[in-house]
Amino acid sequence: MPTLLDAIQHRYSCRQFVAGHAVSTSEMDLLREAGRLAPSAFGLEPWRFITVTGDAERAAIAHACYDQPAAATAAALIVIVARVDALDPDSDYVRAQFEAEARGEDTASIYEAYRAFYRKDGVAAWARGQCHFAAAHMLLQAAHMGLGSCPIGGFDEAALTAVLNIPPGEFTALVIALGHCAYTAPQRMRKDFD
Ligand SMILES: Cc1cc2nc3c(=O)[nH]c(=O)nc-3n(C[C@H](O)[C@H](O)[C@H](O)COP(=O)(O)O)c2cc1C
Repeated sequence: MPTLLDAIQHRYSCRQFVAGHAVSTSEMDLLREAGRLAPSAFGLEPWRFITVTGDAERAAIAHACYDQPAAATAAALIVIVARVDALDPDSDYVRAQFEAEARGEDTASIYEAYRAFYRKDGVAAWARGQCHFAAAHMLLQAAHMGLGSCPIGGFDEAALTAVLNIPPGEFTALVIALGHCAYTAPQRMRKDFD
């Protein structure tokens, strides 16, 4: 069983996946589970995961990702959507999350902190930042399972919104391309440890 650091060291962004090599339903379930368990500020979990494995929808999403090869050749895609409007302090969504997060205790103090923190004009970027934690969990889970992955932030947001019928108040944070990578890990480029 590889260690977590093995998975971190072996993960790389794959831009070309092997054709005809599907990601199984149970693998997709594990990836979503890894995302579901990601931490989020105030425990708000402001994300939705859209799984795409059908050929036509995958092709349309790849096109919305400017036909990047990683998206075009992926066996499956997970689109992480940020639930921005749900984060309004007066929303039913926030109330439900805070009641769960408070574990039966009073929610007044968490509400007070959240109202002091919340800024409508900054919440979209903040929600996307939360989604990137879920993405990181999924990328590492994929590496741990021996699957290739590529995070894709380069996409035409309006086109993705149309293809996926994303409702008003929600915004795509990231697309994750998944599959069996067609090549071995390239040399890793990182700044020195020091
Ligand atoms: C938020 C985010 C968005 C990214 N968007 C793209 C993208 O649109 N297309 C792409 O090929 N790679 C994308 N990448 C992958 C990076 O280019 C890659 O992580 C970086 O070059 C380091 O390489 P490595 O992932 O192989 O270690 C993205 C990565 C992150 C974290």
